[in-house]
Amino acid sequence: MICKLDEIANISPDTWHEFSLQLDSGLTSIMLIYTKGKCHAFKNSCPHQGRRMDYSLGKFLTTPQGNLVCPAHGAEFKPDSGLCVNGPCLGESLQEVHLEINDGLVFAIIE
Ligand code: FES
Repeated sequence: MICKLDEIANISPDTWHEFSLQLDSGLTSIMLIYTKGKCHAFKNSCPHQGRRMDYSLGKFLTTPQGNLVCPAHGAEFKPDSGLCVNGPCLGESLQEVHLEINDGLVFAIIE
């Protein structure tokens, strides 16, 4: 489980949030954003070299256009698709995490 549904309703739009999930395979970090009326979630791992996307726990860099910026080498990603539109992994994407809502709780479907 990531959080309660009403927590998502209260998060600031167009702001990235980090959730750490304990899985059988270990701790996994998920990034979540609510933008243009939809919620999107991705693994907190850059497709370039696998570094975390937050420069400090839960702190993210964005461009004035709202793209997410990797703090390691500056790759930029669209918040709604995770597609890299600038930087060393141009054309690659963040790994999307599907969300499922059940009984007022938000779950991440991690494959
Ligand atoms: S690890 Fe993200 S741009 Fe290099």
